[in-house]
Amino acid sequence: MGVSRRGFLKGLALGGTTGYLAMAGASSTVLKDVFIPPAAVGDFDIGTCKSVKCTVVSETSWFNNKRVVQDMKDAGGLLVNQYIIPWSNTGVKEGYNGNNAGGYSALIDLELLDGSKKKILLDCGWNTEWMDECFKREGVDKMLKNKEIDVLVLSHEHFDHFFGVESVLKNCPDIPIIVPKGFYKEGFDLLKGASFPVAHLKNDYPHTGPLEVRESGKVHPLFPGCATISFDSAIICRVLGEQGLVFNVKDKGLVAITGCCHMGIISFLEEIKHRVKGGDKIYGIQGGLHISPFEDWDPQYDDLIQALPSYGVEVLGCNHCTGYLTAEKMILAGLPVVQGTARFRSKKKLFLGNGDQIVFG
Ligand SMILES: [Fe+2]
Ligand SMILES: [Fe+2]
Repeated sequence: MGVSRRGFLKGLALGGTTGYLAMAGASSTVLKDVFIPPAAVGDFDIGTCKSVKCTVVSETSWFNNKRVVQDMKDAGGLLVNQYIIPWSNTGVKEGYNGNNAGGYSALIDLELLDGSKKKILLDCGWNTEWMDECFKREGVDKMLKNKEIDVLVLSHEHFDHFFGVESVLKNCPDIPIIVPKGFYKEGFDLLKGASFPVAHLKNDYPHTGPLEVRESGKVHPLFPGCATISFDSAIICRVLGEQGLVFNVKDKGLVAITGCCHMGIISFLEEIKHRVKGGDKIYGIQGGLHISPFEDWDPQYDDLIQALPSYGVEVLGCNHCTGYLTAEKMILAGLPVVQGTARFRSKKKLFLGNGDQIVFG
């Protein structure tokens, strides 16, 4: 990318802009825009909650890395519209019944200070057969049917986080949905019941509940002690925009929970620091950190690992597009990476896998 290590670190000191650029390698994103305000410490008060529990429903976005990259290449490259890519859904040996698609989805249990509870489903995976099984394993299907899940927050429009929406809507068609600014017409059409045969994608259960699009560059409160922040990230497969969740856990500090984090984990943490009250103490992280999703490595990624300790993170949950290679290097660097159990087709114990839980508070 033409960013030197020194330039990259200087960029981090200036607020992460260059850091974002350096992360925008072939395996991650394409830079469009990133806005880091100059204010030293944030003053947006999101309130306080008692605890946050995150259950990994599925962090296995696909079963064969090479196959998913090849699908994009065969369709014309990394910027091709994801709705017209013929994703491999048969004959993949490692796949789920031959389908290479899996998906990312996490269930967040939030306990408020008054003892009441909220449930957030972050993303809904990709392959509906796989997601049906994962939802069943974690009881999410029943929670949806009983209307126990308050909201579906879609981190971004990517296939592996969104195409499985039928698995949610068949159980709860009127669930409130929050998307970041940048969703395309195809995405809204899928919610309404459209199908995209080339991409082997459909939704037979039109969404009937509230749908909110959250503007970028702002902190949006969701529940007491919980907010979302959206970014104008331009991402591979012609996707635009991503949002992450931030919680303020009493007596602990802020917790950042991500889907893919295409905006870059440092950019996300910097944004929290500069916008949210208490942002000088990031107690915990969980989710995809988008460092090495395809298990490749660039020396610039080492700088990300070196930059993380300065945020004071005490509990580092990660999975999905973080990459096992990254987890290995973070553990070597002494970062507090939470180990998983490698069950339900998660491959290694290096980070939190399918069915694993992490509690903050
Ligand atoms: Fe993504
Ligand atoms: Fe992802």
